[in-house]
Amino acid sequence: MVKLAPSILSADFSRLLEHVKEVEAAGAEYLHVDVMDGHFVPNISFGAPILRSLKGKTNLFVDVHLMIENPDQYVKDFVDAGADLINVHIEACPHIHRTLQYIKSLGVKAGVTLNPGTPLVVLEEVLSYVDMVLLMSVNPGFGGQSYIEATTDKIFRLKTMIDDRGLDIDIQVDGGIKLDNVKTVVDAGANVIVAGSAIFNTDNINDTVLAFREAIK
Ligand code: DX5
Ligand code: ZN
Repeated sequence: MVKLAPSILSADFSRLLEHVKEVEAAGAEYLHVDVMDGHFVPNISFGAPILRSLKGKTNLFVDVHLMIENPDQYVKDFVDAGADLINVHIEACPHIHRTLQYIKSLGVKAGVTLNPGTPLVVLEEVLSYVDMVLLMSVNPGFGGQSYIEATTDKIFRLKTMIDDRGLDIDIQVDGGIKLDNVKTVVDAGANVIVAGSAIFNTDNINDTVLAFREAIK
C-alpha cells in the first residue's frame, strides 16, 4: 500500500492546523515535516515548537525530515514534539550508526536520507538498521522544484538492494512529485510519496489528494 505524505512546507502557516486536518480527512497517511536550518540547506523553515503546536490534534503519522547540521542535538526535541519517525541526512551524520541507534532508543522509527548526488553505496553498512530510506529527488532546501529524472533509476536500484537482502524497508521519495510523475516513482519501487506544492498550492486540497490516489491505483 502506497502512503501519501503531504509536506507542510508548502502549507499556509497561518492556517496550518486547518490544512493538516484537510489532508487527513482526504485520506493521506503521513505528515511530512521539513526542518531546515540555513546551514545544511540554504533556507530556514521552522523548528520543534511548530510541530508541538499540532501534537494531539492529528492522527497522521508524523515523519520529520531533518535538513540540519548536527541533527543528534535536536532529535529529542522533535520526538517530544510528536515525531513518529525521524529522517536524518547521511551527509550530515559522520556517526550515522550511532545517530540511528539514538533515534530508535527514543522509541520512534529511524530513517536515513540521501541527497541526489549521494550514491546508494553509502547505505551498505546501515541498511539493516533503518525503517525507511528517503531518496531526495531535488536538492533539498525549497519546495516547488523539478523532479530530477535520474532518481527513477536510483529508486529501482534501491528497491533491488533491499529485496536482495530480504529486508522490509520503506522507500520514500521527496521533491518535485506531481500528478503526472507520481506513477513512475511508485512503479520504480517507492511506497511513501512526499508532495508539497502539488498538494497545498491547489484550489482544492481534498480533490488533489484523491487525484494522487487515483494516479497510483
Ligand atoms: C525539499 C523538501 C521537500 C519539499 C517538497 O527540500 O524536503 O519535502 O517540501 O516540495 P515539492 O513537493 O513542492 O517539491
Ligand atoms: Zn522533505
